[in-house]
Amino acid sequence: MATASILVTGALGQIGTELVPALRARHGESAVVASDVRSPRAGSPAGEGPFAHVDCTHIRELDNVVRRHRVATVYHLAALLSAVGEEKPRVAWEVNMGGLYRVLEVARTHGCAVFLPSSIGAFGPSTPARATPQVTVQRPTTMYGVTKVASELLCDYYHSRFGLDTRGLRLPGLISHVAPPGGGTTDYAVEIFYEAVRQRRYICYLRPDTCLDLMYMPDALRAMMELMEADPARLVHRNAFNLSAMAFTPAQLAAEIRRHVPGFEVDYEIDPVRQAIADSWPDAVDDSAARDEWGWKPEHDLASTTRDMLEKLRARLPTRS
Ligand code: NAD
Ligand code: SER
Repeated sequence: MATASILVTGALGQIGTELVPALRARHGESAVVASDVRSPRAGSPAGEGPFAHVDCTHIRELDNVVRRHRVATVYHLAALLSAVGEEKPRVAWEVNMGGLYRVLEVARTHGCAVFLPSSIGAFGPSTPARATPQVTVQRPTTMYGVTKVASELLCDYYHSRFGLDTRGLRLPGLISHVAPPGGGTTDYAVEIFYEAVRQRRYICYLRPDTCLDLMYMPDALRAMMELMEADPARLVHRNAFNLSAMAFTPAQLAAEIRRHVPGFEVDYEIDPVRQAIADSWPDAVDDSAARDEWGWKPEHDLASTTRDMLEKLRARLPTRS
């Protein structure tokens, strides 16, 4: 029998593809079971150690993997993101809420800790847009946001009612170069780097002045692992902490990329659905609770993220001469 003690659901997505190797580097390869409703492609980092096919909406599949691998901690990443959630609101509710409910029930049975990524999408148009407080109005207008607020509350409930060690972060949009994003509103901030390297041209679906919180993946991975290792006695706001690293607009990102890719052009063809979602989210959140309660500090800003993304993608992608 394997001795793994950490389960990652939705492990083949943008975050899981990098979180699984990061957890394995920290805890050992056999200590981390990657799982997803999909099968890993050949060469996928998540498929290089223990892997289980798990649909998080099926409690028996979850229970089996937790029992078999003696799982102590679940990083529950499986979910539909904001733009896909607007295309398929019913599926988003079933996966995001149905999956979390079953993960929490299995965690209650087996005494597992649970990490749940919430999002800036848990806020809405009536939330203060600048220096968004940790505790504030949360009336999101997307199905994604509705599930994120309900998830934060459900995790609070399982902690206060059953003593479960639930913890969470309101992640900003994530920028990364390993796995593509899964259909969110902030995907532009990843795609733009690929197109800058390939074509020196990008067509952006958000207005140039749309300000949002973004974060480079290495900071997000560190935040998740640091939160799960933090002293529980210090955590007042368990589910979920505001988290911030940088806030910028597409125009500001394009200008930063242009410093490395002269002549880089961006055109704007606005997608009304994703623009409306972005307009309903804060410009920049206040993450002082995370800083005070568990010592959160970002390491990457716009300049270092841009430099590193371009370096990594240039080493991998064909470039336009
Ligand atoms: P993603 O879309 O890239 O990956 C999600 C994974 O979940 C996919 O591999 C998919 O196959 C899997 N999945 C879907 N339905 C499933 C099911 N029923 N059972 C098991 N697996 C299933 O998403 P991501 O970007 O890796 O995000 C992971 C989590 O982090 C989500 O909760 C998301 O809301 C949150 N988050 C992400 C970002 C971001 O910018 N990526 C920002 C804030 C919060
Ligand atoms: N990146 C995510 C999205 O746009 C934020 O939660 O859906």
